[in-house]
Order: sequence, then C-alpha cells, then structure tokens
Amino acid sequence: MRIIIRDTYSEGSVWAAHYIADRIREKAARTSEPFVLGLPTGSTPIATYDELARMVAAGEISFKNVISFNMDEYVGLPESHPESYHSFMFKNLFSRIDEPRENIHILNGNAPDLQAECRAYERAIEEAGGIDLFLGGIGEDGHIAFNEPFSSIYSRTRVVTLTDDTIRVNSRFFGGDESLVPRQALSVGVATVLSAKEVVILAFGPKKARAIRDAVEGGVSHTNTVSALQLHQFGTIVMDELAAGELKVNSYNYFKAVEAAENR
Ligand code: PGA
Repeated sequence: MRIIIRDTYSEGSVWAAHYIADRIREKAARTSEPFVLGLPTGSTPIATYDELARMVAAGEISFKNVISFNMDEYVGLPESHPESYHSFMFKNLFSRIDEPRENIHILNGNAPDLQAECRAYERAIEEAGGIDLFLGGIGEDGHIAFNEPFSSIYSRTRVVTLTDDTIRVNSRFFGGDESLVPRQALSVGVATVLSAKEVVILAFGPKKARAIRDAVEGGVSHTNTVSALQLHQFGTIVMDELAAGELKVNSYNYFKAVEAAENR
C-alpha cells in the first residue's frame, strides 16, 4: 500500500487531483479508449474536485474521454433533492468539467427494481472496460463507499442499510435531523472497488485517524472495510497529518522516507 502524507487537506487534495490528471493523460497517450473513473461524494473530495475543475478551466486536462461511475446513492431520495448524490456531483464536479453527460453514471436510488439496478451497474462497469482508477473517501468507521462494518470483502453493488453512526454523521447535511437521513443506499461493493486497476483513497482530519491506523497497521477486517485495500496491488491512501496522527512513529517515518526516496 502506498501512503502519501501531506501537511494539509488542501495539499493532499491537490496531490490527488494532479495524480488523477496524470493517469488520464497517461492513458490518452497510449490508447483512444476512455479513462474509466470511480468517484465518491462527501466533504472529503470537494477540494480535489475544485482542483480538477480548475485544471479543466485552465485547459490542463479534459474529461471528454472520461467515463465515470459514482460509488453510491441514497435510496428513496429524489434526484433533485439538494443532498442527493446526483445533486452533489453536478454541483461540485460535473457542471464544472467537460465530461459528456452520457458518460456519467450514478446509481438510481429510485429505480423500481433496486436489485436489477445494482446488477445493471456492475454490467455497465464491465462493459466500459472496468474501472481504471477508483477514487474514494472513508467514513469514521473505515467504511468505503457505503460498505459499512461487516460488509463482505467480496461484496458487489447492492442495497445496503446504513449504520446509526453513519446516519448520525450524515445528518449534518440534513440540518442535523437524523430522521431526514435515508436508512438505505445503493452502493458499489468492496470487491467492486478492489476490481479497479488502481484505488486512491482520501482521508483527511483527525476523525479519520483511527480508521486509518487500523486499515494501515491492522489486519484486513470486515469491521473496517477500507482495510481490504491491503489486498490490492495498486492501492494508495492520501492523508493529511491529522489523519496520520494515530500511526506509529516508525510507520509514519517509513512512509515519509519512501516518499523522499521516490522524489529524489
Ligand atoms: P466525508 O464522508 O467525506 O464527508 O467525511 C466520507 C464517507 O462517509 O465515506
């Protein structure tokens, strides 16, 4: 697992945006096939999206040949609701970049047959050639997408039930009223994320420090689903000093030494 530690949220986010842009350019240089990108919502990726939008406006990168798949969506929340992940993505990214509308995929949490919707999503990812890079955030409990503790490492896109903790944490987007937070969501599975050719996880702030410590220094466990990243050949976690705050001094120093050696 590659660990990138930056001083601040902003520096970590710029690193991630530039890394994604490099991967898109690198694929475009060798093939005309689209770049397939997995995308998260949440407060974490906002600065990464800001930097990507800035790069598009500056002509430094284009999303014209990018196909994206979002990680998850609430069940039963209208797409037009300001807190739906459809609304979030159009506001924070899609309205600011040149990705064609038909290349954007977000699970439909209002589909008449939710199971069929999940199966079709997995098929669509496959038909697009598989995900080149899955960008993700994590929850305070280490969930990746909405794969709450005890989700199978082999899970695929499905209907999930949110934990009380996630409902409480996400209620900040619903005026602090937990009763307004949907109880269920559609989410890609842990195995869907691990099937990507590369996975980049963002974790910033002290509230993520414990999950990061367990995922990096503990074993693979369904109680902290981001720990499954240990099973991926090309997994990276980008964090700030605060999210790295619970790592052992020796681990921290080693990750910094690796970065210093790579940048020499
Ligand atoms: P956050 O949420 O980015 O708002 O912290 C991440 C998550 O719950 O996966």
